[in-house]
Order: sequence, then C-alpha cells, then structure tokens
Amino acid sequence: MIIGVPKEIKNNENRVGVTPAGVAEFRKSGHTVYVQTGAGEGSGFSDADYEQAGAMLLPTIADVYGQAEMIVKVKEPIQEEYQLIREGQLLFTYFHFASSEELTHAMIERKATCLAYETVELPNRSLPLLVPMSEVAGRMAPQEGAKYLEKPLKGRGILLGGVPGVRPANVLILGGGVVGTNAAKVAAGFGAQVTIMDISLNRLRELDDIMPKNVVTQYSNDYNIRAAIKEADLIIGAVLIPGAKAPHLVTRDMLKDMKPGAVVVDVAVDQGGCIETCTPTTHENPTFIIDDVVHYCVANMPGAVPYTSTLALTNATLPYAIKLANLGWREACLRDASLRLGLNVVNGEVVYKGVAEAWGLPLTNVSKILEHAHA
Ligand SMILES: NC(=O)c1ccc[n+]([C@@H]2O[C@H](COP(=O)([O-])OP(=O)(O)OC[C@H]3O[C@@H](n4cnc5c(N)ncnc54)[C@H](O)[C@@H]3O)[C@@H](O)[C@H]2O)c1
Repeated sequence: MIIGVPKEIKNNENRVGVTPAGVAEFRKSGHTVYVQTGAGEGSGFSDADYEQAGAMLLPTIADVYGQAEMIVKVKEPIQEEYQLIREGQLLFTYFHFASSEELTHAMIERKATCLAYETVELPNRSLPLLVPMSEVAGRMAPQEGAKYLEKPLKGRGILLGGVPGVRPANVLILGGGVVGTNAAKVAAGFGAQVTIMDISLNRLRELDDIMPKNVVTQYSNDYNIRAAIKEADLIIGAVLIPGAKAPHLVTRDMLKDMKPGAVVVDVAVDQGGCIETCTPTTHENPTFIIDDVVHYCVANMPGAVPYTSTLALTNATLPYAIKLANLGWREACLRDASLRLGLNVVNGEVVYKGVAEAWGLPLTNVSKILEHAHA
C-alpha cells in the first residue's frame, strides 16, 4: 500500500503521524511511505531520519495527498486539506466528528473513508488510541502544577515535595482513571501528600493496592470535596463520564474556601472541566486567576511535549496502521472488531451512530458494507 504522512498544519500541532521507526516497519512489510518534507521536525525527527528508515520525501502536502492510498496523521484535516482528499482515500487520524459539523460534511463531500483514533475500542470498552494522551496529560499535570505554585508565577510559593523539616504540598486529584493515576504517580514521586477521589470503589481499591504510602484514596462526594479543597495546594481535575460533560465538582462558591495562591490544573477541561471556573486556555496563555486561585486549563496538554506524545501515540497507532496496510481497511475491519469501531465515514457515508445522531445524518450499516465487500 502507498502510505502518506503529511506535516500537520493545524495551529501549534507539532506531533507527526508516523515516526522513522514506523516507516521502517511499513517498509519491512513491503509498503511505500511518502513523508512530507519537515513533517517530523516539531517532534525531533529530521528528513534524513525518515530517508534512512526508507521513506521517500515529497515537498508539498498536495503531493502527499496526491500519492497516498492511506493518510496517517494526528489531527483532523483542516479546511486547506479538504480539497486534497480523494474519493475512497483512507484517513487514519483523530477526527472528533461530533464536535465539528463542518468537518463531517467535508468528509462526506470528499467521499473519504475515515477511521478515527478516538473511537477504536477494545472489548473491555477502553479506548487504546486515547489512553496514551491521557497518560501524557496525567504525568504533565503535577509538573505544571508545581511550576505554577512558584511565587513568580503567582502561586503560593510552596515546593511540591517540601524539604526535611517542612511539610510537602497537598495534592488533591479528582478522578482516579488514566489521567488521575498517572498524575498521582508523578505527584507522589515529587514527594507531595496526595489524595485521589473517585466514585468507583473498585477503582479506589486497585489504587490503594498499587500506590505508594504518600497517596491516600477517598470516596468522591460533595462533603469530602468541600473539606479537602481547604487543605489543597494543588487540585488536579481528571474526571470523565463517558459521552457526557464533566460534572462541576468544585463550584464557583468553593474557591473562596481555598488557600490564596493554590493552583487548579483541570485536565478534564476538554469535556467542560470539573472545576466550574475553568475555561479552555492555550500553551501561549495557559493560566488565569480567579479569587486568588491560579487556573491552568490547557485543552491539549500533550502538545507541549511533542517528542513524548508522538512516540506514545504512534506506539499505539502503528500496529493498527500496519494491519490496515497489510490487509486493506475492509479486510482489517472484518477481522478486528476494535478497528471496525473506528470507522466513522466510509466512502462519504456516515457509519458511526454518534456522528449520525450529532448532525441528524442518515446512518449506513457498516456490517452491510463490509459483508458486501466480502461477497
Ligand atoms: N487537557 C488535555 O490535554 C487532556 C489530555 C488527555 C485527556 N484529557 C481528559 O482528561 C479526562 C480524564 O480522562 P481519563 O482518560 O483519565 O478518563 P478515565 O475514564 O480513565 O477516568 C475517569 C475517572 O473519573 C471517575 N469519575 C467519574 N465521576 C466522578 C466523580 N464525580 N468524582 C470523582 N471521580 C469520578 C471515573 O470513575 C474514572 O475512574 C477526560 O475528560 C479526557 O478527555 C485531557
């Protein structure tokens, strides 16, 4: 198969869909890989790295789309890319169709086949191509929190780990899933005193088993949260209710009970945030202050560490991309039910229920398309 790796052109996106190691894997299976010049620069991979791995470089994004049967990238195509997409071309990337009607209609018009990272789903309902970004954001959260607790950045001026004779900072983590667990590990490693709250007792049991001594678990309810925020130096928001907006666990009126200079890092801001006063910010302007509480609410935290994020993402996406290249998307999706759930649009027809419902579009039965192809 001919694979194309364009340079991401969305504002501030430095990740790349395939690394030189990924190119080498495709080449081993006999595929051709075209990479746009400079595509890996933002993540620390040079054109020479790609060439050595066996890729062929192309100067423009139009060349890459023009040649490729399958495009592997990171973010959804943006307007400038729409007209480059050819009928039946396979796009394997994040789409988040339910948040963009324009993108959905563009992919239908172009008659593209769109396999979305975010809806590839394992039988245990976990989302293997979203987990790596939660791991990155979770581990970044205490690091960003520690930074903004510094006085010159308007924080309380407390060192997360303390020193001998001085108590460490109190870190409260709301939600003990992927983000929360990774945040707890790093905060505990810094030496902070960490509390994780969740509504799943089973999850709290697991965390209690695996976490070090400076991490305690507590059931998440309004009473416990109100008491804990008074003591917290850093609050990390890491709650997720699948398919719904995050609940506002820390409300506007609760900020006055917090310590002046305390910091909130609301990782869940991409789902509306679990701290009511959080609204999305950017890496250029990551924080704002309300009631003396520093709010860090960057919606794409992994974007700040593109080297790590690219490797983490491609470790997870590459095996699927190789399968798609080896078998073609129809056969790959027939054999792998997780991958099949990634199909959102096939040749311009919407096949994912959530997308059809979001924009009132007709839903085509994906099994019929696949069976038909098989016959
Ligand atoms: N800002 C970013 O850059 C970024 C990056 C990655 C992920 N995220 C977001 O981080 C959030 C968390 O993602 P995740 O992968 O950890 O999800 P997850 O499903 O692994 O974990 C969510 C946890 O929240 C718990 N929860 C639900 N209701 C709760 C409540 N009322 N109180 C306490 N806990 C509660 C669940 O039991 C679960 O354990 C998501 O909104 C995700 O989109 C943001």
